[in-house]
Amino acid sequence: MPSILILNGPNLNLLGTRQPEVYGRTTLADIETMCRAHAETLGIDLEFAQSNHEGALVDAIHDARGRHGGIILNAGAYTHTSVALMDAISSAELPTIELHLSNVHARESFRHISYISKVAVGVICGFGAQGYILALDAMRGHLERAG
Ligand code: DQA
Repeated sequence: MPSILILNGPNLNLLGTRQPEVYGRTTLADIETMCRAHAETLGIDLEFAQSNHEGALVDAIHDARGRHGGIILNAGAYTHTSVALMDAISSAELPTIELHLSNVHARESFRHISYISKVAVGVICGFGAQGYILALDAMRGHLERAG
């Protein structure tokens, strides 16, 4: 059974109360529940994690190697700044889908830059919590095609 890491970056622990007009009212715990239910229907094992710390996210990406077939990453604001996360993804050599709840391209110009996109197999943004489900489907398809 393929295993996928869903990794969430800074401030995503506050989902539900953080700028609900931008990010919605669904909490990260709700998203984890939705993802676990959907992963079961896809026959996928799931690890779901969140950290506000860049180094801890780097460690989680390193640890995924050999344990998971792919990573779904909502790196939050580190998306737009972190060469370290980009390098970690390149080093882990695991297919990674970049995910955002909001449509970052319709927002401030500093959110149009992504270090993660440069090393991701694809990007999903703008669909709120549903994006996590779309990303699981996309990763499942990608892993199937990759054999
Ligand atoms: C985000 C978008 C980022 O620009 C922002 O810093 C976040 C959340 C999203 O899910 O829409 O923290 O990654």
